[in-house]
Amino acid sequence: MSTKSSRLNPAVTGMARSGIREIMDAAWGRPDVLRLEVGEPDFPTPAHIVEAAHVAALEGHTGYMPSAGIPPLREALAEKVRERNGYLVAPEQTIVTQGGVEAIYAALLTLTCPGDEILLPDPAWPNFLMMARLLNLTAVSYPLTLESGFVPTVDTLEQLVSERTSVMVVNSPSNPLGAVIDRARMTELLDFADRHGLWLVSDECYDEISFDGSFVSPASISPERVVSVYSFSKTYAMTGWRIGYAVAPRELSATLAKCQEPLISCVNTPTQHAALAAVTGPQEIVRAMRDAYLERRELALSVLEGSPLQAFTPQGAFYLWVDVRSTGIPSRVLAMRLLDELGVAVAPGSAFGERGEGFLRVSLASPAAAVSEGLRRLVDLAASVSADAG
Ligand SMILES: Cc1ncc(COP(=O)(O)O)c(C=O)c1O
Repeated sequence: MSTKSSRLNPAVTGMARSGIREIMDAAWGRPDVLRLEVGEPDFPTPAHIVEAAHVAALEGHTGYMPSAGIPPLREALAEKVRERNGYLVAPEQTIVTQGGVEAIYAALLTLTCPGDEILLPDPAWPNFLMMARLLNLTAVSYPLTLESGFVPTVDTLEQLVSERTSVMVVNSPSNPLGAVIDRARMTELLDFADRHGLWLVSDECYDEISFDGSFVSPASISPERVVSVYSFSKTYAMTGWRIGYAVAPRELSATLAKCQEPLISCVNTPTQHAALAAVTGPQEIVRAMRDAYLERRELALSVLEGSPLQAFTPQGAFYLWVDVRSTGIPSRVLAMRLLDELGVAVAPGSAFGERGEGFLRVSLASPAAAVSEGLRRLVDLAASVSADAG
């Protein structure tokens, strides 16, 4: 083999393995394990949504569709954004994507050039960093700390921004933290982006899972510099259907939509019909799932109460970010011990960035009994570790 043909892209070969995937693989095939590491609803996709895909396929809606999505879905998405996210867009400004993940990739692909710097949260959903690497961008992490309620501060960002920065990614409600950026802070962030000529890529995949009314879409404050990303995965328990959407300013949307052809051609057609049924159909199911996550949050916090383990009270999404620094054990080692010794799978904080060390992410999108029992075992492990150390 010539050296040329054996040369592979270092952006791909050098990509680290996901620390969540490592735990998932270790838990694989063990039915006794309490699975609190996964980030997907434990609810089935509502029947009327499944039915809509079934009917669409039977009626022959199985061919290629326009790469930015079927027109009735784009109209419904524009309406949804107006009603639930509080800003006005034309259907042409919405682009149906293969999950939120592909919307974020397409947005970064459109808004950056190789070598640019982008501001990414730390801790964060690990895919942001993977995408930055694939796109040959320099990721500059902005810390999210307990002291600042796990939301970005402009003072810190001012020290990190440079002439080469083109995009800032924000994620509210946040995975893995559950933090929500309120209107006042979001306004400051938009001013910061404006001052430095940055685009804001706003990952709002958990927009409908917020508990205290503080969630705000940045485009509802200042739409010019924002590409907003949404997903059906979490809102409608549709993770495996692979559908989401981006909403972009008018002058950008056609350019962003051009990415769809080479990346995916179009989203699976029956899935688009399912999504149309989801967004135009009854929304009680969305509220019911959110209420269930809220109940589990309360339950989880009550299990930790009085123990040496503290958790950040999530204002949205469905994760509990548990501070395990008192154990003195690296989060990956602790997560592995919890799995091996007590049969509970959780995600180590280190999987979400350097600043995730010392924390564990516990999913509340698992049955309540598993959440409370899993946390009880974590408290036991932490106690036994402390006793050993003492
Ligand atoms: C913060 C965040 N953004 C985006 C996504 C992408 O979701 P999907 O591609 O399933 O829409 C996820 C999924 O876990 C996530 O946690």
